[in-house]
This record gives sequence, C-alpha cells and structure tokens, in this order.
Amino acid sequence: MEEQRAWWKECVVYQIYPRSFQDSNGDGIGDLNGIRSRLDYLKDLGIDVIWLSPVYQSPGDDNGYDISDYKAVMDVFGTMEDLDRLLAEIHEKGMKLVMDLVVNHTSDEHAWFVKSRRSPDNPYRDYYIWKAPVSGGPPNNWASRFRGPAWEYDEGTGMYYLHIYSRKQPDLNWENPRVRQEIYDMMAWWGDKGIDGFRMDVISMLSKDQRFPDGVLKDGNPYGDGLPYYANGPRIHEFLQEMNREVLSRFDWMSVGEGVGVGTREAVQYAGYESHELNMMFHFEHVELNPGPFGKWNDNPVCLRELKEVLNRWQTELEGKAWNSLFWENHDYPRAVSRFGNDSPVFWELSAKMLAVCLYMMKGTPYIYQGQELGMTNFQGRSIEDFQDIEIHNVYREMVGSGRISHEEMIRYINHMGRDNARTPMQWDDTAQAGFTEGTPWLGVNPNYTWLNAREQAGRGDSVLSFYKQLIKLRHTMDILVYGTYRLLPEESGSVYAYERTLGDERLTVLCNFTDQTQRCGLSCRALGTDNVLIGNYPDQSGTFRGDGPALHEEEDICLRPYEAIVLTQ
Ligand code: GLC
Ligand code: CA
Repeated sequence: MEEQRAWWKECVVYQIYPRSFQDSNGDGIGDLNGIRSRLDYLKDLGIDVIWLSPVYQSPGDDNGYDISDYKAVMDVFGTMEDLDRLLAEIHEKGMKLVMDLVVNHTSDEHAWFVKSRRSPDNPYRDYYIWKAPVSGGPPNNWASRFRGPAWEYDEGTGMYYLHIYSRKQPDLNWENPRVRQEIYDMMAWWGDKGIDGFRMDVISMLSKDQRFPDGVLKDGNPYGDGLPYYANGPRIHEFLQEMNREVLSRFDWMSVGEGVGVGTREAVQYAGYESHELNMMFHFEHVELNPGPFGKWNDNPVCLRELKEVLNRWQTELEGKAWNSLFWENHDYPRAVSRFGNDSPVFWELSAKMLAVCLYMMKGTPYIYQGQELGMTNFQGRSIEDFQDIEIHNVYREMVGSGRISHEEMIRYINHMGRDNARTPMQWDDTAQAGFTEGTPWLGVNPNYTWLNAREQAGRGDSVLSFYKQLIKLRHTMDILVYGTYRLLPEESGSVYAYERTLGDERLTVLCNFTDQTQRCGLSCRALGTDNVLIGNYPDQSGTFRGDGPALHEEEDICLRPYEAIVLTQ
C-alpha cells in the first residue's frame, strides 16, 4: 500500500532535557533562555522538531515529571514569557516545538491532589485513585516503578492512593470523565498557544484494570509487577480515541506516545493508520534487552541477534499499518555508544556513527537525544553522591541497604544503565563545565568534555556531529529513506546488521558491523548489483570498494572493518 505523506513522517526530532542543555544565569540548571541561545546550533544540525522534556511548574521530585501546574513554567526554567519567546523563535527559524504531556499522574502538590486528599467526599476525591485498606494493608501488592510499594497510606483520611512512580506522583483517575475533560482543555490551551504537538508520557498506563489484582513477584522485587494490569488497560483505546476526537484532531500536530509495555500488536492499535489515536509510539524492547536477575540493573552486553530480532520485528510488523519511531537514547536510558557501540578511544567515533546509520536509515521518525549527535558517553560514578536520579537513589538504598548486593556491584550497574548517564550536562566546548554553566552544574559534567564537545566537532568534517548532519540531510532529500519499505537481508549473522530499503525501483542497502573485528557480510557487490557508496563511516570508503581497501572485489563477500557502516545505492 502506498504510504500517505505526513510532515511528522518526514521530520527529524531532537529531544531537549532542559535541566542539562544550557544554563543562562549561572545557577547550574539549564533553562529556556539557554535553549533559545542554542537554536542556531539546532538549525545548523538540520533538525525539524524540538521535543522539550517538562518545563512546567514542579517540585522536582522526578525532575519535572511531577507537575504541580500544567499551565505554568517552573521558575528555575524561566517564565511563560520566556517560553512564548522560545516558541516564536523556533517557529521563525522554521522548526517546530513538541511539549511533554504528563497526564498519568500529577505532583502531590498539584491543587487537584491537595484538595483530593482533604476528605473522602470532596469534588476532587475521584480525580485520583483512593482505596480503603485491605486487612490493614494496601489494596494490592503492586510495586512502584521507582521501587517500594505503589500505594501510599494517607493518615488524614485513612486510605491509600496509587502512585505507580514516586509517592509524590499520584496517579490520576482516568475513569473520571471530569479528569479527562480537564486534561483535554489543558491540551487545547497549549494548542491555542501554537505548539506543534505532544510527546505523551507513559500514555499506555492511563487505564487501570479496575479489579486491581495482585501482580507476580519477579526480579527479586518484594512487590508485585502490576504492569499487566495498568499497561494497555481495558479502556485505553477508548480514552485515546476520545482524546483524538476532542483535541488532537483539531490541530496540525504530531503525537507520540510513550509505550511502556507496548508490543507491535498494541502499537498497531495505538498508532494504526485506521485507529484515530496517536501518530506513533515509542517502544522499549531494544533498549531493555538482556535483563539480569535484578531486571534492568545489570551490565550484560547486548546480543546483536536479539537486537536485530526486535528492530526487524518492529519494522516488518508495522509496515503498511502504523508508523515507527526510531530512537537509541532518551533521558531514561544510558548513552547508546557506551551500551550498543564501543566507547574506547579507538572505536568511539566509528561506533557512534555506525549506530546512527543502522537506526536512522530505517523506516520511522528519527529522534535524536541531546548530545547523542556528539557521541556523548556514559560517565563513571564512584559513590551514590555522584548521582541525582530518584530511581537510582531508591534502588541503591533498597539493594545495597538490605545487603542484597554490594556497593561495588550496584555502582557498576548504575554506571551501565542509570538514567543520569543521559542527564549529565551537554558538552558545548572545552571551557569550565563544558560551557554549560558559569556556576556549579546540578549534575557533574562528564570529564571527557575536554575533547568530546560540540565546538571541537563543529570544526571537523569527519566528526560524529558532521556525520549526523549528513544523515539528516539524506533523510530530508531522499524519499526512499522516509517511505521506502524495509527488508532484512537474509544473513544469519551475530555481528553484521544488513537490510535494504526499496521504493518503486529504487534500492538502498545498509550494512553495519557491530564488532571490533573485520567481518564478512555474506553479500557481494555483484549480488547486490552495486558498489556505489552513498555514505560510510570510514574516511577511505571508496578505497574499500575500488581497490586498495580490505579485500573487496565484485564477486567476493563484502568485508566490513571494525564498526564499519556503509549505505550502498544504485
Ligand atoms: C516516563 C519519563 C520518566 C519519568 C516517568 C514518570 O517514563 O520518561 O522520566 O520518570 O515517566 O513520569
Ligand atoms: Ca539556569
């Protein structure tokens, strides 16, 4: 089926985590005016859309994902006027702005919750999920996703409220039509301001199974896994279709949902061309591969065969039915080059570029997380004081405090998987604090900023940054990259990812070596019918194909050097 054109299929999105992007007033926290001062950098990179992580009023228990007023800007980020100015300048420069929508929960300091907890019979009580104690304890065994129980006992009225995240993030009751209407009105208010869409936080979790059954105990967690009962719940599609009718369809927006617990079958429901819900979903199967006995807390290497299985399945199962989103990184995951590539000095740059080729030549809307375009890496914390994230602190307290694992082991896992890896300040240049702030940054700068920074890379044609610019340009100029169909090339390799894109009689072949050794592809130029390189990450790529590079003759297997990535065109 011919794919329908849409602007949100053709754009490249850049995610900004405002706390860590650019500070403008020396308080060590990134802010709106800081972002505004860097718009030329983003324009020059070539991106079309900025997705801004939350800048709303918030006590900051989960860095802004705990909102106390949806229509106000948090003072450390600036004012509503600063936001209006930012939006206007983004539009002047021909870019768009997508805001974060966090409506599974609010902060416990939101006026609705403050009223809700006052008494069992006030009009806001049913805005949240309150339950009477069962046998003197919580209504079920669900774990909070930030560790500990998901129910908090509230002395005032002697009842429990549900918080799937921190106890300062009570879950909204979407069963209540007044809650839904308030949210739609708020979204339209932002729409009237002129924003260009929403990224929707844990949107798959809005509808809870009203029986609230116990969850299974797993990963050594003393509390049960409620995910099967709160992800993709019974009324979720009804709610999102209503949201689409009431608000989304009124604006020329893009909408992307965070699909916790969403597989391909569900994604086709949320983002299907016929579903009238959202434009696309984020799934997490590729970034949550290889869990260990403590779930996400591990330092297991990722197996390419499994990674290919996941990405391939998403590409093929959504084909013609729903649109994909493509991401390696966001503010909740470690740096891709450290996890899927190789951040040693020899291979850092090559593998950062290879990962970009591998994912962004696929079908779907690319999302680039701040600093990824520089190949920013994980950092190595030593003590728990080196981290700020609530999730990291909670898991450390629980696991090390109870003696289940040692400090050293936990820090190793945190260094590998912790969210703060993505949240260290953006590395702009080699001056103090990487040019992020003139004060003391809220979270330490990665010490490699002295050589890994935007200014150095902007001045160098073969940098990771320059490579991202080329890839983005290709996405903008070649229809096949947006609309072409994807097909895995049938080689059974645990080291090479090979696939093709086709559109009409055009074809592109993408070959990526995920190892630090030279690898044969099992494909020859003769078989592929071309030796024409569109883009590659080795400087002498044409040599590879025309003589003096590692063996490559028409008939022979293409040999890919360590972390080599090439795209062949006809
Ligand atoms: C999403 C956000 C994450 C946040 C959580 C709770 O997963 O991406 O940062 O902690 O929701 O809002
Ligand atoms: Ca600031």
